Amino acid sequence: MIGLSIEKTFGAISKAAVSAYEMKVKAAQDALEMGTGKGSDFLGWLHLPSSISEAMLADIKATAQVLRTNCEVVVVAGIGGSYLGARAVIEALSNSFGAREKETPAVVYAGNNLSEDYLYELLEFLKGKRFGVINISKSGTTTETAIAFRLLKRACEEQRGKEMAQQVIVAITDEHKGAARVTADKEGYKSYIIPDNVGGRYSVLTPVGLLPIAVAGFDIAQLVAGAAAMEKACAAETPFAENLAAQYAAVRNELYQRGKKIEILVNFCPKLHYFSEWWKQLYGESEGKDHKGIYPASVDFTTDLHSMGQWIQEGERSIYETVLSINHTDHTLKVPTDEANLDGLNYLAGRRIDEVNKMAELGTQLAHVDGGVPNIRITVDRLDEYNLGQLIYFFELACGISGYVLGVNPFDQPGVEAYKSNMFALLNKPGYEEASKAIQARI
Ligand code: PA5
Repeated sequence: MIGLSIEKTFGAISKAAVSAYEMKVKAAQDALEMGTGKGSDFLGWLHLPSSISEAMLADIKATAQVLRTNCEVVVVAGIGGSYLGARAVIEALSNSFGAREKETPAVVYAGNNLSEDYLYELLEFLKGKRFGVINISKSGTTTETAIAFRLLKRACEEQRGKEMAQQVIVAITDEHKGAARVTADKEGYKSYIIPDNVGGRYSVLTPVGLLPIAVAGFDIAQLVAGAAAMEKACAAETPFAENLAAQYAAVRNELYQRGKKIEILVNFCPKLHYFSEWWKQLYGESEGKDHKGIYPASVDFTTDLHSMGQWIQEGERSIYETVLSINHTDHTLKVPTDEANLDGLNYLAGRRIDEVNKMAELGTQLAHVDGGVPNIRITVDRLDEYNLGQLIYFFELACGISGYVLGVNPFDQPGVEAYKSNMFALLNKPGYEEASKAIQARI
């Protein structure tokens, strides 16, 4: 099981103050369980790990196999919660330099930005390649994803023929509504439904995350098993002292009340970069509302110790760190001996790179705590599907609890609409005539 250590926050906050949250976090978790809190229409994720059926996993694996057999590249088109979970897991488990099993397609991403150069270069990259597309959008109308999909669909049909395109394009969207559903039904694509009661950022354990992860060759049953183990370990009846999600929710709320407004998720392994991106979206969209909420940030150490490390050590004391620490690496590599020792590194000869990394981690923790940065440490045995499943569920549950303790609805994202309305007005989208006039008058 993952471990949680909060001792190095004591100083900025007291142990007693964290313990005093016991009833509040219990009430929050009970509200999740009973569906009595804000946004209770979106609690489908809560027991997803323990309720996902073998049949569904088998179906996803079969679809993944169709894509694996027929594609050398699979493009995952989606944005926000419709892509970050898959990318987080795939990047955490993949070889850093793209090496993969022969029959495993490369997974690339689209529909998560509006950069013309990105899309142009993607289409160039796909030219002459046997590629497929997983088009993911719950609303089925998200502009970024829809534009990318329009381009990808056309390229796929042109390159591979309509019949093969129909086999290698998969849609994951709403059961009834949205353009992605209409297209999938009309074209006869294999499709999956994103349950109504699961919001984008809580959807990684639905086909949204599971299909791309299976295409990339990873064991989705183990991912779900890890999440299910965490669901059990952090059940509502688990005492506060043993309930890691409840404790994390408590400690971060207390830190926030004591002026620590920014949480920095730290890793010492670059493969976790996109895990942090997923985490930022989960917490940022869930808690940042009603003019409240911890700002979720992230750094990749030791890389960012040479940039953001200065700010963290000596900048404004409004931050705390949550470190994801991986106990075991997949490979062993030692510092070689060098007779000339021109670089002076022979004191490390024969020692593992991971030992150096771990000492950097420990040294950083002590330095930052000394510098007034409270430190939460989450230990993970190794980067595999089972442990990532645990982490995912841990953070999801803690987010739901934490949002309720903060007093916000952790399951909506009304603020995301503001930029869209302006963009549609500026682009003269039908239906936005009045807004277009109003916005033109402002600029
Ligand atoms: O978490 C969320 O709800 C959002 O980030 C959405 O996932 C994101 O906006 C994409 O929406 P959609 O899946 O409707 O295209």
